[in-house]
Amino acid sequence: MAQNDDLTRRGVMKLAGAAGITAAALTTAAKVGPGIVKAHAQSNQIKYGMIGTGSRGTYLLSRLAKIDNGHCTALCDVDQNSVDKAATVIGTNPKKYSDYRELLADRNVDAVLIAVPLYEHFPVTRDSLQAGKHTFCEKSLVFAPEEVHALRGLAPQHGKQVLQVGLQRRYSQYFQATKQMVENGILGDVTHIHAMWHRNPGWVMKPAGKSNPKNWRLFREYSGGLTAELASHQIDVADWMFGAQPEFVMGLGGLDTWKDDGRDIFDNIQLIFQYPGGRKMTFSAISTNNHCPFLCSSRPEFGICIMGTAGAVEINVGDGQDTLPTALWYREARPTKISPATEKTETEAGATYALAGPEKGIPIRMPQYEIDKQKDSFITRELKYARLWLYQKGVMVPEEDVNPVDTELQSFFHDSMTGGHPKADVEVGLADSTAVILANVAMDENRRVYFNEIQNLGNDKIDQALKKEAKPMA
Ligand SMILES: NC(=O)c1ccc[n+]([C@@H]2O[C@H](COP(=O)([O-])OP(=O)(O)OC[C@H]3O[C@@H](n4cnc5c(N)ncnc54)[C@H](O)[C@@H]3O)[C@@H](O)[C@H]2O)c1
Repeated sequence: MAQNDDLTRRGVMKLAGAAGITAAALTTAAKVGPGIVKAHAQSNQIKYGMIGTGSRGTYLLSRLAKIDNGHCTALCDVDQNSVDKAATVIGTNPKKYSDYRELLADRNVDAVLIAVPLYEHFPVTRDSLQAGKHTFCEKSLVFAPEEVHALRGLAPQHGKQVLQVGLQRRYSQYFQATKQMVENGILGDVTHIHAMWHRNPGWVMKPAGKSNPKNWRLFREYSGGLTAELASHQIDVADWMFGAQPEFVMGLGGLDTWKDDGRDIFDNIQLIFQYPGGRKMTFSAISTNNHCPFLCSSRPEFGICIMGTAGAVEINVGDGQDTLPTALWYREARPTKISPATEKTETEAGATYALAGPEKGIPIRMPQYEIDKQKDSFITRELKYARLWLYQKGVMVPEEDVNPVDTELQSFFHDSMTGGHPKADVEVGLADSTAVILANVAMDENRRVYFNEIQNLGNDKIDQALKKEAKPMA
């Protein structure tokens, strides 16, 4: 087995030849991939509306503009400028509404995407389901314990409608490949997951403090803070990789740097979740430095490291605009329990693994980067060798060729058309929201919070939640 301290071309070729697999992980993506979706789209498109066309809504529309199995027929925002701008982004001359109930009553809307602030997710999602629409709601799915119970009760009454949450990592080929590495024992026993999302300066207060709706994230009345906005994505990955929900959570939050205009959410949080079998996930979010030590520090801000007795994977979904997902696999020099994959081992993991010595990050590559000695031209081969060599040096990293946000949106429309079931379904969303809510309780009450405590929280407010109105900030 080559140690790959300094890869020669021959070494790279050997690596490239080792263990090339077409991914089971990719088959699902392929099912909803551009080719197949296009075939549907020629005869059929889902007509959708979006509620909340702020920062995320507009970003989603910029992706949706290139997705052809959905057609935007309506937009809604209480802010007229926002809805006008969003209409130009999507370019389909959608009907514009300022009251979301009117959009929900529009018969020309089959599916609804919701990107309003967190505290309004539940009432808008509830109303969308009750209006008979397929519903995609951004993460974190719900805000309060009573909404966890209320949505769990409501969702089965709308079992024929798709209800999907915007946890796009579930739709990433790299994350799917990593999940299969976990399932196939390639990482050994996965005991720890470390995740971080570091920013500098973090969320900046816009003028007018709490009376400016753009500042909703900074106030507990409307927001779950860093836990809901950032940790939720990575907690979901930990739930998925461990195949379980945590048993309890501990945490420490501080409002130590950004004490401006009445902000009352923490500006730094440190969380530890314990999963069954003593497995742990740690999460760190700070607002004073954006360094991310994963992935050869090639990306700032956020990443997650999945650590087992036989290896680790560092993975990052990218920013959805300029950078796409990246993953590096590190084999453990002396695995304690399960043997690592050996050279030429084929797995069903869905990506191609080039193997190298310990402590070197090996890119989890997608099949399109495989070297095909018969088909690839000399130049293509040279490029691929160079790319692989650079990967090994941590200079260049592999990229997923489809933004997982595109895949989650295509998949939402595809499931809406075919009656399919989303990967990021209501239970995934509610598990994630439960973890967010309880982690915030742990930090507020300075104690270990057990996950079964959710059963006793908010029960007396379910009726209230079912009647709650979505009220935009003044
Ligand atoms: N999946 C992701 O990676 C991701 C990334 C960013 C944001 N988000 C989520 O998207 C959601 C929106 O975040 P954002 O950054 O776009 O916030 P934002 O403040 O920029 O936009 C929210 C929009 O909703 C509108 N709105 C509020 N109440 C409304 C109502 N009742 N009817 C119609 N419009 C209403 C506001 O006017 C605003 O334009 C949040 O839940 C956030 O967590 C998800």
